[in-house]
Amino acid sequence: MEIVLKHVCLLALCCIFAVAGCNRGKSKDDSHIARPSDCESFEKIDVHLTIQNKIQPEYFEYNVTLHDVPKHQLIRHLELAAEKDKHFKFSSTYFPGMGYFINSINGLAGKWDPDQTFWEILNSDFAQVDEGASYIPNHEEFVVFNFTKSSH
Ligand SMILES: *[C@@H]1O[C@H](CO)[C@@H](O)[C@H](O)[C@H]1NC(C)=O
Ligand SMILES: *[C@@H]1O[C@H](CO)[C@@H](O)[C@H](O)[C@H]1NC(C)=O
Repeated sequence: MEIVLKHVCLLALCCIFAVAGCNRGKSKDDSHIARPSDCESFEKIDVHLTIQNKIQPEYFEYNVTLHDVPKHQLIRHLELAAEKDKHFKFSSTYFPGMGYFINSINGLAGKWDPDQTFWEILNSDFAQVDEGASYIPNHEEFVVFNFTKSSH
């Protein structure tokens, strides 16, 4: 029976904690029974996202705070933000081996020719992150998607 339970857990893609929880089935103490959230292997963080366009009409700035979300690539947080606030609706292109490029946010798309505009991603220090939307934010980090113009 224990083996069957173990397999059920593995099939459900649960993590080590959940398997341990299943083993505890024979114990009367259920205070440590695995909950669904234990099945995620990601640390949970709070992250603040801002989208801002200060360079051309229609200007906008919107903030959203995500609580208790997996510490994961920013693109996943942007998905969660889009679920929460329609202004965060975005489109992106995935380049194998390179990651995600943000095409548009809130209906505003970067235009290389002739504007040289694009969505840059800034971390809490207002430094552009090299990984783009593949960047993994830290707990309580403020991330800004800033519509900008190339200076070159
Ligand atoms: C968004 O958050 C930033 C940073 O906390 C803050 O300076 C700004 O005033 C906020 N903007 C809006 C529209 O709430
Ligand atoms: C966002 O982009 C604008 C336009 O390029 C720029 O002036 C501004 O400094 C950027 N914001 C931050 C926080 O870097």
